[in-house]
Amino acid sequence: MTHALCPGSFDPPTVGHIEIIERASKLFDSVTVAVIRNSTKNAILTSEERVDFLNRSLVDVKNVNVISFDGLLVDCAKQANADVVVKGLRAISDFDYELQMAQMNRQLSHIETVFLSTNPGHSFLSSSMVRDIARYGGDVSSLVPSAIADDVATRFALSD
Ligand code: PNS
Repeated sequence: MTHALCPGSFDPPTVGHIEIIERASKLFDSVTVAVIRNSTKNAILTSEERVDFLNRSLVDVKNVNVISFDGLLVDCAKQANADVVVKGLRAISDFDYELQMAQMNRQLSHIETVFLSTNPGHSFLSSSMVRDIARYGGDVSSLVPSAIADDVATRFALSD
C-alpha cells in the first residue's frame, strides 16, 4: 500500500490543484492532502477554510483525506505515514524551487518527491491570480472547483 502526501498552501485550491490530487489518487492507494503554511506567503484563508474548501472539492475522490499541519513537510509526511510526496509542476519557473525543496526534504528524511506535469490548460493558473480576479469582481468559476466557486468569489471580494 503506497500512501502519498499532496502538500500545498491552497489559498484557495484551484482546478489545477484538484486535477493533480485526482491523478495522484489513481496512481497511489491513498492520498493525504495537507494544508501547510508556506513561510514565503501570507495566507488570507484560515487553515479551517482551506481544509473545508478542499473537502468540498474532493467529495467524489474516496481514497483522499484532508488535514492541516503547522511545521515541516517532512514531519507532516511522518505523521501522515506518507511514503511519497506528490507535487505538480506547471512550468520551468516552478522547477528550481521545487527541486530544491525535494532535495532538502530527501536530505532531512529520505522521502521521495514525485512530480506530475500539470495539464497545459492549467499551467497559467495560480492561487494568487484567483485571489486577484475575485478581489476585483472577475469570474473565477472556471478557475476553482464549482463546489467552492461562489464562496471563493465572496470570500476574497470581502477580504480587503
Ligand atoms: O502551494 P505551495 O505554497 O507551493 O506549497 C508550499 C509548501 C507549503 C508545500 C512548502 O512551503 C512547505 O513544504 N512548507 C513547510 C515548511 C518546510 O518543510 N520547509 C522546508 C522545505 S525545504
